[in-house]
Amino acid sequence: NNSYPFYTGTHQAGIQTEPQRYCVYMTFDLVSATATDLQVLLARWSAAIAQLMQGKPIGAVAPTQPNAVAPDTGEAYNLGPSSLTVTLGLGPGVFDHRFGLADKKPKLLEPLPALPSDQLQKGYTGGDLSLQACADDPQVAYHAIRNLARMGRGTVGTRWTVMGFGRASAGKGQSTPRNLLGFKDGTRNIKEQSDFTDHVWVGDGDVAWMRGGSYQVARKIQMNIEIWDADRVSDQQQVIGRTKNVGAPLSGNAEFDTPNFTAKDAAGDIKIPVTSHIALAAHENNNGVKILRRSYNYTDGISQFGQLDAGLLFIAYMDTPQSFIQLQEKLGSSDLLNEYIGHIGSGIFAIPPAPAQGHYLGEALF
Ligand code: HEM
Repeated sequence: NNSYPFYTGTHQAGIQTEPQRYCVYMTFDLVSATATDLQVLLARWSAAIAQLMQGKPIGAVAPTQPNAVAPDTGEAYNLGPSSLTVTLGLGPGVFDHRFGLADKKPKLLEPLPALPSDQLQKGYTGGDLSLQACADDPQVAYHAIRNLARMGRGTVGTRWTVMGFGRASAGKGQSTPRNLLGFKDGTRNIKEQSDFTDHVWVGDGDVAWMRGGSYQVARKIQMNIEIWDADRVSDQQQVIGRTKNVGAPLSGNAEFDTPNFTAKDAAGDIKIPVTSHIALAAHENNNGVKILRRSYNYTDGISQFGQLDAGLLFIAYMDTPQSFIQLQEKLGSSDLLNEYIGHIGSGIFAIPPAPAQGHYLGEALF
């Protein structure tokens, strides 16, 4: 029952943190148009997140005055911190005309452009604020989001949410899990400190208050599960560019073998197809672009056609949103995987650095 500190004064938790088992992700619209309301919300959310990450309720679960409404809803009482992290993001709307914060806008924080293969639905897209709550107990993650949403009433309204039930990425030292395609996911994720410095954390090149922060891109990606399940494993492997069992690149034998994107088989064919997912996404083929993937599997039950409705809550962190845009421009137009997936939701958020003790998230904006 691990706990992470909130007041680190450096990076927010929930990014470099080893992915926990569950995630509840929610975005919100600001319904108040006063900067003070936003400021008060960020201060109150910060204090509450610090409590929750220690496994403490945000006030009495059962107030001594029996007629009082409980400040904490109670369902996580005594469950402990369960590795909870809550990561806050600020969407482009925070910096529009409403709040007078336009001069503080992170350089490249704009709604994502239309990307090839987009099938975005309004009900899963956008948001002025995002909260990513991850924990090893789903009830602890849900409790955090529920209580923060409750605290925000009057200032924010809920916009879209996804409940992720299994991690689909790996941090340093963690075993590689599998996503709902049945393939290992996270093998070549960012794991080394130098890559976090070079590709995830914002440095000097952006507005000053973003230093130590990051950009978060969230995509709700539906999988055509029945169609995928009817495909031969040999074809599935060509789509991903890796073997299903071991997770080895098709040019190698072991999971962590470095893919060789030019290796040919005896017949003279490239072993890792150029339109496979990993060939298109690898940094070797993208001018060195790398992103941190921190995704979760999700299910929405059964579709109106009686098919399993499930997919990947893709969450990625990077020091510039250009990294995602560049990758998805390419994946969206050529990836063999496109036959089996559809991007139905999307959001982009600036992730402020973590406050030091006595401060709150986003304080530098006011
Ligand atoms: C690698 C699955 C969407 C970027 C992988 C791997 C799998 C996978 C199985 C190989 C294992 C690994 O190295 O982690 C999926 C699925 C997706 C999806 C099922 C959608 C449902 C995306 C998107 C992006 C992306 C939208 C970025 C725009 C990457 C990158 C790699 C990767 C950068 C590492 C490639 C390498 O360096 O070898 N993905 N992915 N993926 N994926 Fe995805």
